[in-house]
Amino acid sequence: MQRKESLPLQQVKLNGLIYDWSYQRLTPEQITALAEQRLPKNFAEQRTALMQGTYLNISENRTVNHVLSRAKHSPFRQGNNSPFVQIVNKLRSGNWLGATGKPITDIVNIGVGGSDLGPLMTSFALKEFASDTHTHKLTTHFVSSMDGGQLYAVLPKVNPETTAFIIASKSFTTQDTLANAKTAQLWAVEQLSGQGVSGQTWRQHHLIGVSSQPERMTAYGIPTAHQLIFGETIGGRYSMWTAIGLAIATSCGLEVFRRLQNGAIQMDQHFAEAPLTENIPMLMALCGVYNREVRGINNLAILPYDGRFRHLPSYLQQLDMESNGKQYTATGKALDTPTGPIIWGGFGPNGQHAFFQHLHQGYDDFAADFLVVLHRNAPRFSAKVQASLAEQQELSVANCLAHRKLITYGTDRYLKNVDISQYYRGEHPNSLLALVYLTPETFGAIIAAYEHKVFTQGLIWQLNSFDQPGVELGKKIANDALTAIQDKGGQFDSSTDSIIALTRHKLLK
Ligand code: F6P
Repeated sequence: MQRKESLPLQQVKLNGLIYDWSYQRLTPEQITALAEQRLPKNFAEQRTALMQGTYLNISENRTVNHVLSRAKHSPFRQGNNSPFVQIVNKLRSGNWLGATGKPITDIVNIGVGGSDLGPLMTSFALKEFASDTHTHKLTTHFVSSMDGGQLYAVLPKVNPETTAFIIASKSFTTQDTLANAKTAQLWAVEQLSGQGVSGQTWRQHHLIGVSSQPERMTAYGIPTAHQLIFGETIGGRYSMWTAIGLAIATSCGLEVFRRLQNGAIQMDQHFAEAPLTENIPMLMALCGVYNREVRGINNLAILPYDGRFRHLPSYLQQLDMESNGKQYTATGKALDTPTGPIIWGGFGPNGQHAFFQHLHQGYDDFAADFLVVLHRNAPRFSAKVQASLAEQQELSVANCLAHRKLITYGTDRYLKNVDISQYYRGEHPNSLLALVYLTPETFGAIIAAYEHKVFTQGLIWQLNSFDQPGVELGKKIANDALTAIQDKGGQFDSSTDSIIALTRHKLLK
């Protein structure tokens, strides 16, 4: 069913990336007016400060340096002779030997939040670009959940003699990470004790630490040579460009890691220089502000139509919600206006068979970002398989376009004899990020674009996008609850107390 109306084309093209905001139902004039009204007068200066690494995270009294962490010739970037590069080369060439003298074949990245989501997402997305310069086979696994459920699944698959663990934690105090690290160590040392491997020897051969706190890594027993240090001025959710990206480099190679950074740099330049209505991050930010403030939409669905983007929604959830989910300004004044939206989403084609019913015919308003890859190279397969994969890519593009069109235009409510069950409301504002090909560069550019969107919105809402005090109280109460579970006292409300009692009494299991 075709509506007569056709929204005017609004697109920005940049190095193999197309940002289409036609379906936001906004004009360049409206965007310009909104920018004049809502962007702070010193926006250009603040943006320059972000690019130069002088922007201040005021509550923590630190500069914000994630842009510098990928910038060429910056002291924050992992240089060509850095320990980061040396460690990656040693692991990928098979020259890193475990405590019993065998080459490391498996890496387990233990981290959570920013120390997990970026490396996990990117390694998954860019695996196929891994260079084959090293013949040594190295597999990278990810473990984040504090309950040990993921560790439980990974440990039986790996050999303690040939497995190294990356403990990735900016603070090196995160309970989740330290709990996983402790269990992993117990498991490995127990397995290797028969071969005379002590805890200390194991730590020397099988642990790599990535943190901004070297003294804590040393106290943990990680040798200095196996410590990768990054600056405190780089926020956890912005840290995948730093040594936190070690797991990206172990799974995809250094070249992919560099190309990823280069793609982000291209987006940094674009953000710094492009005029407002051709500036992808600024358009993303202003469309988002309009949807939040004028249309009253409180959520943004991230809907990638490419399996390689599977982990993107969770990554963007942290990036956006931990940065701008706040009700106080950077200078500590209370706000009672909407700020960052709820970010949610999932792999689009699978969502079509799950939650899209609600998007098409449910009650709620939402905004959406669709992401799609138009073409795919698959040189490692035969011509026939390549052709079949290309058809699959077309299928995915067609589905993305179809559902995007439906949530925009809906069905024509004026058509006669349309059964109510066939009616789609439409009019949900959305954008499309189309990649001509997925490459490390286009992927890096997309992530940087979202970072800059969050920064711009943070300035509009007068937030400090670089702190997260709201995550602290939960950690404190968790400690209190743990004390109670361990029978060391403490009382809560009746519901909490009853579950604590059940947890305490193992016999009931
Ligand atoms: O608790 C929130 C948080 O601090 C995030 O900001 C961070 O990415 C995550 O925990 C992990 O922190 P760390 O890298 O210090 O272990």
